[in-house]
Amino acid sequence: MFILFSLCWWSLTGVFGAETNKIQSVLVMEGDSVTLQTGVTEIQYDDDILWTFGAEKSLIVKISIEKQIFSTFDVPDERFRDRLKLENQTGSLTITNITTEHAGEYQLEINGAKLTSKTFSVSVYGRWRSFVSS
Ligand SMILES: *[C@@H]1O[C@H](CO)[C@@H](O)[C@H](O)[C@H]1NC(C)=O
Ligand SMILES: *[C@@H]1O[C@H](CO)[C@@H](O)[C@H](O)[C@H]1NC(C)=O
Repeated sequence: MFILFSLCWWSLTGVFGAETNKIQSVLVMEGDSVTLQTGVTEIQYDDDILWTFGAEKSLIVKISIEKQIFSTFDVPDERFRDRLKLENQTGSLTITNITTEHAGEYQLEINGAKLTSKTFSVSVYGRWRSFVSS
């Protein structure tokens, strides 16, 4: 079985340099899964966690323990159907079986004791299909 695993991370500090304005670039191979980490060890009771996708900032995740909300949402064209998984302790978001349709910016906002935001810029690369035989 031909396995090509390529997951590279690096961080770029945003132009404005604020700690809350970091952009992390993530490269992921088509068909793989990727987990975007909130960076928290445990969601706090009064945290509101939102994940949005794309330039339209479509809401794809909303978590509020206080309001008992722990949900993923698809975008109108349903490109995330069954692909979004949430880690229940941290609110980290996993996108499974990623395709080029899922490339783009994912924004995290944690509104709690303080406001934290992060942006992940996800790029997806195609597999070398010619090497895969069934
Ligand atoms: C969170 O996940 C753990 C491990 O998968 C599980 O044991 C636990 O019951 C889950 N908690 C909630 C609130 O879903
Ligand atoms: C992954 O996504 C592709 C394209 O949408 C689909 O054809 C394939 O069945 C999916 N694979 C799995 C394991 O879900």
